[in-house]
Amino acid sequence: MLGGQVLAQDALAVDSPKWSIAIHGGAGTITRERMTPELEAQYEAALQNALDAGAKILADGGSALDAIQAAIVLMEDDPKFNAGRGAVYTWDGANELDASIMDGRDRSAGAVTGVTSIKNPILLADKVRTESVHVFLSGKGAEEFAATQDIETAEPEWFETESRKRALERVKAEQLSALDVDHKFGTVGAVALDQDGNLAAGTSTGGMTAKRWGRIGDAPVIGAGTYADNRSCAVSATGWGEYFIRVGVAQEICTLIRVHSSREPVICDEDQIPSGTERAYPCRLPGNIEPEIAQAAADYAMDEVQALGGDGGIILVTPEGHALYSFNTAGMYRGRATSEGVNEVAIFGEVLAGEE
Ligand code: GLY
Repeated sequence: MLGGQVLAQDALAVDSPKWSIAIHGGAGTITRERMTPELEAQYEAALQNALDAGAKILADGGSALDAIQAAIVLMEDDPKFNAGRGAVYTWDGANELDASIMDGRDRSAGAVTGVTSIKNPILLADKVRTESVHVFLSGKGAEEFAATQDIETAEPEWFETESRKRALERVKAEQLSALDVDHKFGTVGAVALDQDGNLAAGTSTGGMTAKRWGRIGDAPVIGAGTYADNRSCAVSATGWGEYFIRVGVAQEICTLIRVHSSREPVICDEDQIPSGTERAYPCRLPGNIEPEIAQAAADYAMDEVQALGGDGGIILVTPEGHALYSFNTAGMYRGRATSEGVNEVAIFGEVLAGEE
């Protein structure tokens, strides 16, 4: 497991204003051999740009929700990433976009799948969260809803990318799988903790090259590709969506953290117990999520994915501001920044600065 060592933030005063953000731009067979120095520099610059946009909002006292959307919009607009503008092609030669977002304060969530004319699907997902009574909208209906909101649309040409088109042609001509041509899952995502102590998570993707029959991956599925709960963590995933759905990766990690972060099992207060039964696990003492627990939970879920035959990675922040990741692929486009001065982006599976 290529898990990042958690940040050394243990000296952080519990009540000091702090913020934290992590982003990803996909995981897969991302190796130096497949990358030119020019392309590597372009990816690093794009990741840094997205990270800095989110970090600035958080440093200025903005919300985790605003920070993750700012970071994701920049990656959606960048054709290098498989989301928004750079979305891969379906079997039928279209671009079908998926996105989801979740607010850790109240677990309100919004998601869209199979939209073809929305410039920034993450913004539409947030409108579903705030302006509808629903969580998950699909296809034509989602676009009809978008038309009632202040959401920018784009013509099909906006999503046209030559390299993605060639990838589809190769899959069809040579009867390859999407992984043979893409070598990675290019989903983008961001997770953040703001100075008010609130968590948020968001994920956006074009899915997999040559997907057909209305295939939906994990990115727009709350609990699989995206989850945020102020009691435990915020997670965004990237990887082979079918496996992430089967494991329920994002929610699984948050649940593991919530259950196991108490040094002693904590009995819930009377008013937290639905039917008067004693329940030890759903409750925890605030401020006691050890980074090692969070890392172990993330690695465990990724091991589950791998055991089933899938691969990919996740990014995660905790209510204490620990920002970490876990992936079982050769590389993951990623970055993280915190109020403690950490600010770094990375691509390959090597250890980052500040890690042991
Ligand atoms: N993880 C993105 C997808 O499988 O569609």
